[in-house]
Amino acid sequence: MSLVTVTINDKKLQVEEGTSILEAAKSANIYIPTLCHMNLHGGVEHNPGSCRVCVVEIEGRKNLAPSCNTMVAEGMVINTNSIRAITSRRTVVELLLSDHPQDCLLCEKNMHCELQALAADMGIREMKYKGEMSTFPKDFSSASIERNLDKCILCRRCVTACGKIQTVSVLSAVNRGFHTIISPAFGLPMVDTNCTFCGQCVSVCPTGALTQVNNTTKVWEALNHKDKFVIVQTAPAVRAA
Ligand code: FES
Repeated sequence: MSLVTVTINDKKLQVEEGTSILEAAKSANIYIPTLCHMNLHGGVEHNPGSCRVCVVEIEGRKNLAPSCNTMVAEGMVINTNSIRAITSRRTVVELLLSDHPQDCLLCEKNMHCELQALAADMGIREMKYKGEMSTFPKDFSSASIERNLDKCILCRRCVTACGKIQTVSVLSAVNRGFHTIISPAFGLPMVDTNCTFCGQCVSVCPTGALTQVNNTTKVWEALNHKDKFVIVQTAPAVRAA
């Protein structure tokens, strides 16, 4: 594969053609925050470009570009730290928080939540935008996986893990706009789908939208109703380092 020369934050480097700006920056130890992007073992990439947390400025282009799914090109001059890029990323996180429950201290993912970590990194201390909040029904039907869609940021990592890694394809995006959710077809509860309860979706979820059931009573109940519940040990994380 041929090499291209790009400049990132005044640093000239050579990277393989077809490399994303994010990967090129990483190779030069330049940090760009991400949220929806992930690399999985086995070479599976997930770059929906949906969150816009990774935007950068490219010389000669009017719009900011998501670095995770914009490929480098010969002579490209990129600025990852311009005021415009930093302000846009911050606004994206503030908007995500504006439709996110404010119960971090009670959340299963507290201190392990990527949205929480990003907000802390960016020094966000208060809710800038306030408005209508999502109020989707929670899905506690399964003995091993709980779904709290109010905490979903629509990164679709679970869709990729379920479809491309586990090849079960239980989860997909449905509806439009503010009503978009990640759900089994026809809004079925997890227990009524062909989910194998492998836990891959839980392991890649950046927030508390998908969590592992942590309730011994529920597990015992399920063990006594095997016809209704399926219990499979949660699989190890599939995310690459
Ligand atoms: Fe690039 Fe989400 S990480 S758009």
